Amino acid sequence: MKIKNSESLAEKIMLLKKEKNAVILAHYYQVPEIQDIADYVGDSLGLSQQALKTPADIIVFAGVHFMAETAKILNPSKKVLLPDLQAGCSLADSCPPAKFRAFKKKYPDHLVISYINCSAQIKTMSDVICTSSNAQKIVESFPLDQKIIFAPDKNLGGYINAQTGRNMVLWNGSCEVHDIIKAEAVIRLKAENPGARLIAHPECKAVILELADFIGSTTALLDYTIKSDAQKFIVATETGILHQMKKESPGKEFLIVPTDEACSCNDCPYMKMNTLEKLYACLRNEEPEIKLSKSVIEKANKPILRMLKLSE
Ligand code: 13P
Ligand code: SF4
Repeated sequence: MKIKNSESLAEKIMLLKKEKNAVILAHYYQVPEIQDIADYVGDSLGLSQQALKTPADIIVFAGVHFMAETAKILNPSKKVLLPDLQAGCSLADSCPPAKFRAFKKKYPDHLVISYINCSAQIKTMSDVICTSSNAQKIVESFPLDQKIIFAPDKNLGGYINAQTGRNMVLWNGSCEVHDIIKAEAVIRLKAENPGARLIAHPECKAVILELADFIGSTTALLDYTIKSDAQKFIVATETGILHQMKKESPGKEFLIVPTDEACSCNDCPYMKMNTLEKLYACLRNEEPEIKLSKSVIEKANKPILRMLKLSE
């Protein structure tokens, strides 16, 4: 294929994408220039649904490792690329498979519900997967007396316990980006901006969620800002989501909760490892590619498909 020098990186990516019958799936926490060239931008559930139904031969996953793994598990015959293989996730890393296997042994009569932010290995040890947008629905699909282990996010698990009156056993994991959001910063922003709505991702600590006017997945937070009459929002999640919020509601004001005095940003270091340059190189070279063993794919596929069925 001939590419003229004057073509921008984004144009080159678009051309390559067409030529190779590739699709770019991006999470809301990606940098704006990646979101702008993606075929689909969404939350973890939406991205899994898109990954399952895409007719493309190549999936370029502009997100983190567990998301690309999920796409591969759903599409074993397709090539799944991740622009930077180091783009991991602190929450997924907080649940090492060997330790989780030993933990699970202590609760032999418990069902395992795992948040999608976990490794393929953890998925093979799970009965059903959930995301932040369907966690309550998935948990409530089981009888009240069903004993459940919820892994790996203790904040999301604690929130669902509170919402459903259950007492799920929680794995002690968390997301470093959401877990450091402090109540003092939220309270200060609320006092400085009377009338602003506080919207929070359920990966935040309970103390933040208790202050929130609305709690939801990234897609749910975005939808809330579109539909709400409010003109100002205090956003307790990763900065990337502001791109779509501002695009959808240009007249509204969005304030991200600062993580410390010196910084008004709240970036996920893993999500932000992907750049337009790396995305172009990965599509051109068709690597780095996600590779998983047949047995892991077969075992991890079942709880993900079960989630997708329960989410219909
Ligand atoms: P959702 O986009 O599914 O709400 O998940 C947020 C997240 O932390 C992804 O890593
Ligand atoms: Fe993982 Fe948190 Fe980054 Fe999401 S924001 S990818 S949960 S570290």
